[in-house]
Amino acid sequence: MWIQQQFKTRSTDVYLITHPKSGTTWLKGLIFSIMNRHRYDFTSHPLLTFSPHDVVPFMEVDLFKSIPIADPEILLSPRILATHIPYTMLPESIKNSSCPVVYIGRNPKDVLVSLWQFMIKLKPKDMPPISLEDAFDLFCKGISPCGPVWDHALGYWKASIEYPNKILFLKYEEMKKDPLMYTKRLAEFLGHTFSLEEEANGIVEEIVKLCSFENMRNLQVNKTGQHRIREANKNDVFFREATVGDWKNHLTTEMVEALDQITEHKFDGSGLFF
Ligand code: A3P
Repeated sequence: MWIQQQFKTRSTDVYLITHPKSGTTWLKGLIFSIMNRHRYDFTSHPLLTFSPHDVVPFMEVDLFKSIPIADPEILLSPRILATHIPYTMLPESIKNSSCPVVYIGRNPKDVLVSLWQFMIKLKPKDMPPISLEDAFDLFCKGISPCGPVWDHALGYWKASIEYPNKILFLKYEEMKKDPLMYTKRLAEFLGHTFSLEEEANGIVEEIVKLCSFENMRNLQVNKTGQHRIREANKNDVFFREATVGDWKNHLTTEMVEALDQITEHKFDGSGLFF
């Protein structure tokens, strides 16, 4: 694949990697805000008028598949690039670089529900909505946009244990519990630690508030805007419930048992859990 062989990293790059529906939009906002906090104040911040997906592009979607092709070489440094590529297929140049990689994983049951709802929103008008049963079957077979969610998370989990200074593995559920602490942790990992003065001035709180689901969902750009390149994509498709455990409202007992069994089997002995 072209992207794997030809992609060139820069020493200043930052990579955000996720399985779809695991918190990509949130992390795009947080990383962008942390790294650019000296350039903007919170009254005229780009995230008030641009979707997080416009300020942090997806490598495989916005840069290599869009027409006209946007050349990643023209992006200014430091580049923040997002991708859903599984670890086994990640360009060697990223693996071999010293660029930080942030991964966020999420409970597979919530990923399934989120993905199912997302597929319904993105379906062409003349197609019937996919049923939960069909979405569940595909998901369990590992037929989802970037392969099985379990293998995706496991690939980065193992790599994060092997290269703890390069890969930060975050969990959506933990971030929801303590976004302030994790925003500081994220900044530290990216080499943009908040100063005592910034902390005293409430900058971390401002960033957490700016990127919070409640705030982002209600911004006009995320309610009625469209993706700059992929115009068919409405920005509001990325904002739904943002809760932990929404699967309880949708999945049957049999579905839960089957998913738990796969999770147990796949993660067995790895130390990974959600
Ligand atoms: P739900 O469908 O469970 O509500 P991604 O950004 O990877 O596509 O993931 C989308 C999920 O993250 C959706 O979950 C969405 O509601 C949630 N989400 C979007 N923005 C968020 C934010 N700022 N904070 C927390 N969760 C957010």
